Amino acid sequence: MRWPLHPRSIQMLAKLLCTALYALHTVAAPSWTSTPFNPPSIPLAVRSPYLSTWLPQGGGSALNGGWPVFWAGQTTAWTGFISVDGTQYSWMGAPAVPDSTFTQATQKSFKARLFTSTQSIFVLSAGPIDLTVTFLSPVETDLVKLSLPLSYLDVSVSSTDGQAHSVQIYTDISGEWSSGSDNWNIEWSTTTSGMLSHQVSLTSPAAYEEISDHAQYGSVYYSTLSGKGVTYQTGEDVVVRGTFLNTSALPNTQDVNFRAISDAWPVFGLAKDLGHVTTGSVLFSIGLIRDPAVVYILPGNVKQERSLYFWSKFATAESAIEFFLNDYSDALSTANAFDARVVADASKISAEYAGIVALSIRQSLGANELTISKNTRGGGWNTSDLMLFMKEISSDGNLNTVDVIFPATPIFHYLYPKMGQYLIEPLLRYQASGLYPNKCVILLCAHYPKALGHPQGLDEVSCQSGNMLIMAYGFAKATGDLSQIKRYRALLDQWTQFLIDDSLIPANQLSTDDFAGTLANQTNLAIKGIVGIRCMAEIAKLLGDNATFANYSSIAADYVTQWQQLAASTSGPHVTLAYGMADTWGLTYNLFYDVQLGLNLFPQSVYEEQTAWYADKLNQFGIPLDYPTDWTTWTSGILTDTSLRDQFISALSAYASNGLNNVPFSDWYDTVSGQMAGFQSRPVVGGHLALAVLKMLCNRPIV
Ligand SMILES: *[C@@H]1O[C@H](CO)[C@@H](O)[C@H](O)[C@H]1NC(C)=O
Ligand SMILES: *[C@@H]1O[C@H](CO)[C@@H](O)[C@H](O)[C@H]1NC(C)=O
Ligand SMILES: *[C@@H]1O[C@H](CO)[C@@H](O)[C@H](O)[C@H]1NC(C)=O
Ligand SMILES: *[C@@H]1O[C@H](CO)[C@@H](O)[C@H](O)[C@H]1NC(C)=O
Ligand SMILES: *[C@@H]1O[C@H](CO)[C@@H](O)[C@H](O)[C@H]1NC(C)=O
Repeated sequence: MRWPLHPRSIQMLAKLLCTALYALHTVAAPSWTSTPFNPPSIPLAVRSPYLSTWLPQGGGSALNGGWPVFWAGQTTAWTGFISVDGTQYSWMGAPAVPDSTFTQATQKSFKARLFTSTQSIFVLSAGPIDLTVTFLSPVETDLVKLSLPLSYLDVSVSSTDGQAHSVQIYTDISGEWSSGSDNWNIEWSTTTSGMLSHQVSLTSPAAYEEISDHAQYGSVYYSTLSGKGVTYQTGEDVVVRGTFLNTSALPNTQDVNFRAISDAWPVFGLAKDLGHVTTGSVLFSIGLIRDPAVVYILPGNVKQERSLYFWSKFATAESAIEFFLNDYSDALSTANAFDARVVADASKISAEYAGIVALSIRQSLGANELTISKNTRGGGWNTSDLMLFMKEISSDGNLNTVDVIFPATPIFHYLYPKMGQYLIEPLLRYQASGLYPNKCVILLCAHYPKALGHPQGLDEVSCQSGNMLIMAYGFAKATGDLSQIKRYRALLDQWTQFLIDDSLIPANQLSTDDFAGTLANQTNLAIKGIVGIRCMAEIAKLLGDNATFANYSSIAADYVTQWQQLAASTSGPHVTLAYGMADTWGLTYNLFYDVQLGLNLFPQSVYEEQTAWYADKLNQFGIPLDYPTDWTTWTSGILTDTSLRDQFISALSAYASNGLNNVPFSDWYDTVSGQMAGFQSRPVVGGHLALAVLKMLCNRPIV
């Protein structure tokens, strides 16, 4: 890490300390098999920046070996019991219930995958019954379904001795799901018609506010369809859990003594009597619904309230949840088909790559929310006014940060380039509105979920023009929808002038790896700028302006020639980190979009030389220096040697599966020790899809 320390670096140092402390206690290897591998943390319900619950692993923790936690580490208690012929077992969480006896179900090895791109699946045995517990966070293409901030929990049982058994399933959540601090007062209620749904909200919510990254408003819903044998109870944890453990059912009663989350811990329980069975199942859904979700600044200091897309279809949260529960079989088959497609595509690289990608998809998409506004006149929803918001997560809580959405772009190219256009729309519209005083690209729109911009232009100083041009062109090319580049052509051209002036000789500035500090003449930054100029040439061409295409492409080509001179090291056949620094080198990951977009701007010799240079640079867990995992993946995509590409991916996979970390996929780590260095749960892991996009999926939009 270089000095001076950026504020983010200070946060990172604190995290390094925590990591070091964590490393002091080692964890035994799990006794069950995990396919594709045992990750640092297993996604359970990951569907929005605020519905993000995980099971930390380290060396391995069973589903009933500890509490599920929010991505940032706070407990989100989630409990499961099963009664089999009157014997009680726990299958999720770490509840303690005095005066009641239960044993832990045993997590087993099994043939199915522990995780796929959309699901985490646990198999546990409880006496003569096996439970398969499936956590499904859908990846949908339907805009209504993809914007529902809800996740499924399915519990299926089967008898292992051929006999029928009396089986009752229990689960609850605590009030911890509704705030980042347990001191806050909560209120709750239970809907009992059509479905059983517990709703939990803060007594004094604060719209658009957060505490420790949790939303400080909205409602948590824990639900199941009503039917025979379904019961519920709200009340103190030991009472509700103790009641189920004693009676294998709940009494359908509500505790209305509203109080603080940690005051005699209220929990929200649901149970189902499956009867005397050899097989059976029960489905639950968990969600956190805020409305509006995001506030966005318009000219005249108008604060536009924006809601999740699904509201255009449903009048109430309850009707949306009931739809979601009834949609499970469709959701599951969509998910299975999607998972299979990802495995098929990613396995063309390697099985290790398929595992990395599967672990990254929910984490990356879960940071986003798709919003719409109300019609300005006449009421109703304006479903043509789509904006996607991404929370930076962990390195910061900012919103649509240009140097965070850019590394994540491969996932949008793989899945839905249209979403990529919705993602850059808030930045383009804001800057085109004249609300931002600087001429260069606004880096971020302030803190999630408040897209209020930076009227004084006091955000991080760093010109990210190349990123915006590459994204605007890439998504327009992939979707064939030119309306966005048409609408913002003047702005895009304004940024291009910056690049024409500055990209070949980059000023002293932060790079995208801004935690690494500032440096002048960064060769990799120059690549991005030159690719950006060429992207504007392509934009002009798409819009029928051949003269500008010819002019800008010849400027870009000329810069490439000059860059080759400036960037070459005098001490070896490779590109330097910055011009003139002969003994330095870095990852030239910004060549990725030269390849992905088929620009062929940089000569093949550059790719070959860089490939040869990296060949002996790998540590056990990856390439040295402070490179996040997304850039490692991007770089693997520019290598001309397939076996080296596979070594890059193997090293990354070795890191992801080494059992030394216990947070949602950290993209920044030490490639010698294999320990995370900072950052967790960031959406940038969408960049891990780079190879999938490159090798198989250019221009195959599904939305
Ligand atoms: C469960 O049964 C035990 C033993 O009879 C009793 O002490 C305890 O209070 C009961 N718990 C509840 C919540 O009813
Ligand atoms: C819907 O949103 C678009 C994009 O902001 C805007 O141009 C249009 O006027 C809006 N329509 C209505 C009816 O408000
Ligand atoms: C950047 O590189 C150019 C071209 O080699 C050189 O003239 C300039 O002095 C360098 N800037 C810095 C700050 O080193
Ligand atoms: C631009 O060039 C393309 C071929 O590269 C040609 O088909 C098109 O007619 C040209 N457009 C104009 C406006 O000259
Ligand atoms: C090419 O673009 C540059 C930068 O915008 C401009 O200064 C120059 O006049 C253009 N040349 C032509 C021939 O249009």
